[in-house]
Formats: sequence, structure tokens, C-alpha cells
Amino acid sequence: MEEKTIDESRQGEYLLLDHSSALPLGKPVKRLLLESYGCQMNFSDSEIVASILSKEGYITTRDPEEADLVLLNTCAIRDNAEVRIRGRLNYLRSIKKRKPGMTIGVLGCMAERLREKLLEEEKLVDLVVGPDAYRDLPNLLEQVEGGQKAVNVLLSREETYAEITPVRLNSNGISAFISIMRGCDNMCSFCVVPFTRGRERSRDPESIVNEARELFEQGYREVILLGQNVDSFKWNITTKGEIIEAGKATVNFAQLLEQVAQVNLELRVRFSTSHPKDMTDEVLHVMAAHENICKYVHLPVQSGHSDMLKRMNRGYTREWYLTRIAAIRKIMPDCAVSTDIITGFCGETEEEHHATLSLIDEVGYDMAYMFKYSERPRTLAERKFEDDVPEELKSQRLTEVIDTQLKNSGMRTRSYVGRAHRVLIEGTSKKSEDHFYGRTSQNAVIVFPKVEGVNPGEYVTVQATDSTTVTLTGSIV
Ligand code: 5AD
Ligand code: SF4
Repeated sequence: MEEKTIDESRQGEYLLLDHSSALPLGKPVKRLLLESYGCQMNFSDSEIVASILSKEGYITTRDPEEADLVLLNTCAIRDNAEVRIRGRLNYLRSIKKRKPGMTIGVLGCMAERLREKLLEEEKLVDLVVGPDAYRDLPNLLEQVEGGQKAVNVLLSREETYAEITPVRLNSNGISAFISIMRGCDNMCSFCVVPFTRGRERSRDPESIVNEARELFEQGYREVILLGQNVDSFKWNITTKGEIIEAGKATVNFAQLLEQVAQVNLELRVRFSTSHPKDMTDEVLHVMAAHENICKYVHLPVQSGHSDMLKRMNRGYTREWYLTRIAAIRKIMPDCAVSTDIITGFCGETEEEHHATLSLIDEVGYDMAYMFKYSERPRTLAERKFEDDVPEELKSQRLTEVIDTQLKNSGMRTRSYVGRAHRVLIEGTSKKSEDHFYGRTSQNAVIVFPKVEGVNPGEYVTVQATDSTTVTLTGSIV
């Protein structure tokens, strides 16, 4: 997954544990405030952390004033993410001045990037834990209790937390993340993820399918399979647990997707993120063959110009990308496509920028996450290229990209009007108590009047009658 950013409104969201889950006997209850920033993978990792800490007697709180332990699961993808988290740390430190017993820890990508610096130079925190070291949290917390600072930022080639059952946090009980792999081997020149999340590794498919089955049995109706690059999911292992030769008895992403789809027809399956250089027709055929695999692909392009894609080290050209879009359209004419775009990357010319605008129109994306380039320490781009596009020009180009995409989003959403959609109801609309909202297979949000006897977590057919840029309205038929 290319660190697809969680909806802005959820950034820093407080994660609440289900307090009914049994607490370990004999351990004093302690209060944990756990906040997550950045991508879906971080939100998913926080559910692993919550699972590990619930066994240590922690229950969660939203209030820093009553927390014994505050953990921020951080993002390092762009500088502004880090600035925001530092602001939060400074605020927490002001509370700690009054409450010296409180422990403050940084988890995730910023922990990995800044390591001891956060402890020693900046004295912002007591605890620094990288994304592959969460099993060590109980030991590290003991060290902190003993008056020391604690840090573990070791990256692993094996850790997938496969057998840890995540504690579902802030869950609507309907949709859940399942992490299927960790790390990234791609080395896109702008991206810090390979440095913060380490080498790519896949999780045992059996544990993934079991997790999906358990979620279904608990009443969940949608799983979102997460990985930095799901198409390179690959598991090759014998029943005895030995790694065998590549090519024999392996499970690839298409096969995993099929296995998860077969858990139950009533369980929707989504996934993120696909990589244009690795997304196979086999995956698209599996999607087409299973009604419960949502017809939605997030396929980050980053730029519409082949020279720029080369500088970005993306491993494909504009033409190749368009052949992947053509394959999606051919195999699943009804499939929605979204993307990620960066403006103002090193050396971006006017021509390259216009190629991005024309590509957006050519593909006709349903949705896009759009960013200004932000130089990250240690990346290929930082070492090889100059960050030479002036800030105002980056912003101006970003505005043009956003305007072009908004026009396309509006057109795509309008194209769903006048049709009946199978919708999974997710809850009551934020704007109206009398309305439900849910999603179509194409991931479009649709709002419709409630009907007696129909509840969240159920599927209904909704006729779409109207739209705004990104939302449909309609009624149950
Ligand atoms: N600057 C701006 N955007 C970035 N992304 C990744 N690294 C950077 C960076 N240094 C974007 C890419 C990626 C998405 C999750 O974040 O578009 O797909
Ligand atoms: Fe995604 Fe490339 Fe970063 Fe890997 S290196 S997470 S593929 S943007």
C-alpha cells in the first residue's frame, strides 16, 4: 500500500478499546491514550498494539489528563505530517510537566526515522518503538517504569504479527482492516517508506483467511486487505513450515484474494494498494469472477509523464500505465479507479505537469489523493536530485491537478445516477438522523432514507437519484 492516507477527519483519532474484553488478572489497570496518524496501515498496526497492551492491563482513554501512557503512532511520509505530530508532542509534554508519572511514546514511521534523536536531543518522549518492534512494548515499558528511556527500532525481515488477533478499535462492527504484508522493496525515489517500514514480507495466507472468517462470524461484512504493494504478495512455504523453491506451491495475491472472497459471499473484500508495474490480469479476472470483491482499484500513478516516472523510479511508463487501465476497463467495465499524484517533484517541467493533467482526463478517475512533493531525508531523490520547483509553483500545480480531478470526480459520480446499486449500510448519516449511508461496490458513498426493519451491516439495493461531486443520494428499492 502506498500509504494511502486515512480521511483527514480521522487523523489523530483516539482509539477506544472494547473494555468488556477480559483484562488479565492480577495486573493493575492502567490507562492508555493511543492516537494514529497517516495511512491505513498505521491504523491497522494500532490494533495490534492495543492487543499487545490489553494483555498488560491497559484500558484506553480519550483524555490525556487521565492517561498513564500516551502513544502516538506516527507518519513520516511528508514533512507536514511530522510537523503536526511534533505539535502534539509539545502539547503532551506540557501536560507531563504537571503529571510527571505519565509516559509518552512514539511508534511507527517517525520513530523509525528519528530514533534516539527524539529521546536524546529533543527530550520529547520516554519511549521510541519502530513498526516491527511492538512485541517488545511490554519489556520497553518495564524499562521506562524503572526510570530509563527505552528504544527499539529494529526492522525485521520476518515480523508480520500473523497470530496476534487485533483489537478492533473505533470499529463500526461492519468493516475491518486485515494486514496481509509489511514493508516495501520498491524504492520510489521520493518515498521514505522503505526506510521506515523495512523490507517487504508476506503474512501466512492461512492466518489471513482465518482472520477474515472470524470477522465474518463476529458480524463484520467487509474486510480491507492492506499492504504497501499487495500485488507482490507472495507466500511460499510447505505445510511443515519450510520455505520451498519459488514457483512451487506458492500463494500469490490473486489466489489469496480468491481464498478470502470464498469465506462467504456476504463478506465484501477490498484491498489497497496496487502497484501499476505489478498488477496482473489474473488479479483483475479474480475480481471480475467474484461479486463480493468490490469493483474498485486504487492504482497510484504519481505523474503522467514517462521522464518524470523514470526520475521517480516507478518502474513503468505512461503508456504502460494506460495499458493497465485499459485492462481494468476491459475485464471490469464497471470498475472504479482512484490514484495518488505528486506535484512539483524534482525537475518537473511545464510539459510534465500538463502530461499529468491530460492523464487525469484520459483515465477519468473516480477519486485521487493529491500532494505537493515534500523532500524526505535518506531517499534517492534527496541524494540525487534538487528539490527545485518553487513552493508557489508546486501549490499552483497542485490546485490545477485538484481542479481537473474534481471535474472528473463529478462526472464519475453523475454516471452512477439513475442506476440501482448493491449497498452495504455502514450507519446513520452524519447530516441526518433519518438517513443511512453506505457504499457501493465502486466505493461511492450513498445516502438514503431509513426504512423500518433495515439495519447497518445489511445489504440493500439503492436506486441512485442524484449526486454531488463525491456523494450519491437515492432510496431503497
Ligand atoms: N512527498 C509528497 N508525497 C509523497 N508520497 C509519498 N512520498 C511523498 C513525498 N515525499 C505520496 C505518494 C504516495 C502517497 C501515499 O503519498 O503519492 O502514493
Ligand atoms: Fe509506495 Fe513506492 Fe513508497 Fe513503496 S516506495 S510505499 S511503492 S510510494
